[in-house]
Amino acid sequence: MDLVEVRFAAAGRTVFVPPGTTLLGAAAAAGVELATGCARGMCGTDAVRIAAGPGALDPPGEPEAGTLARMGVDAASRLACSARVRSGVVAVLGDAVSGPPD
Ligand code: FES
Repeated sequence: MDLVEVRFAAAGRTVFVPPGTTLLGAAAAAGVELATGCARGMCGTDAVRIAAGPGALDPPGEPEAGTLARMGVDAASRLACSARVRSGVVAVLGDAVSGPPD
């Protein structure tokens, strides 16, 4: 099994984790503290901007997709508790930002 590289830009830390690991789990492995709330994809406290190639993350399912839509964040934003890495390299750039209005 190929590990996935997860880079936390603000902290300057990188970890290698198995596919299926959440970004929150990767942060814990890296010793990076992210603000969290429900840990179930409902509250949006842990929304982060990411940079990743196609297929690097599983697409958002529910409830993550619904929470991101309600928050109005841009397409590069994911919820760390819910977004699972799949392959390659994922960079966590920082807090989520609002996207263009619908
Ligand atoms: S901690 Fe609530 S959505 Fe992730």
